[in-house]
Amino acid sequence: MESNAQHFETATDALKGDHRIIEKVLGFLEKATSGSVDAPFEAWSKAVDFIRNFADRCHHLREEKLLFPLLESKGIPVEGGPIGMMLIEHDEGRGYVRGMAEALERAKAEPQAAKTVLIENAGAYLRMLRQHILKEDEVLFMMAEDALSEEEQKTLLREFEEHEERELGTGVHEKYLKIAEELEALAG
Ligand SMILES: [Fe+2]
Ligand SMILES: [Fe+2]
Repeated sequence: MESNAQHFETATDALKGDHRIIEKVLGFLEKATSGSVDAPFEAWSKAVDFIRNFADRCHHLREEKLLFPLLESKGIPVEGGPIGMMLIEHDEGRGYVRGMAEALERAKAEPQAAKTVLIENAGAYLRMLRQHILKEDEVLFMMAEDALSEEEQKTLLREFEEHEERELGTGVHEKYLKIAEELEALAG
């Protein structure tokens, strides 16, 4: 069954495709944190839902559980190398997202304080993830493209799709694509 509307030839292209979707939500966070768009809490909630489920559970876990171990098996070291750095940054991001989610829980009772905490954490997340994506697109994925054969890329791509089915379920990819587009439109 086809669950994914997008078609990529290689696993690294699929990950770059995820990055382009994630960047739409980062664009929203940029506007919302700079105050140029006054985003309602509802939109912030959608962004947190997207980041937790699409960016983290689907995308970061594709990297952590499938791509990185494969690269490690090809002799690319984890400790002290780009993979180790990427793992640390994924965790750093989870901390910021936890901060955003906690702020949203207080949004009704203390809207002003909640907004401040949201903006702080979203700003840090956004700056970190933009750099993170750049490092993956321009360094780590280039290394992966050199290290992996065409066949290995194909197998990995298939594993990515299975991972998404398992983590998100069928058709949920489309839901998050929609959220990303909605938030992008809201950011103007
Ligand atoms: Fe990553
Ligand atoms: Fe990534």
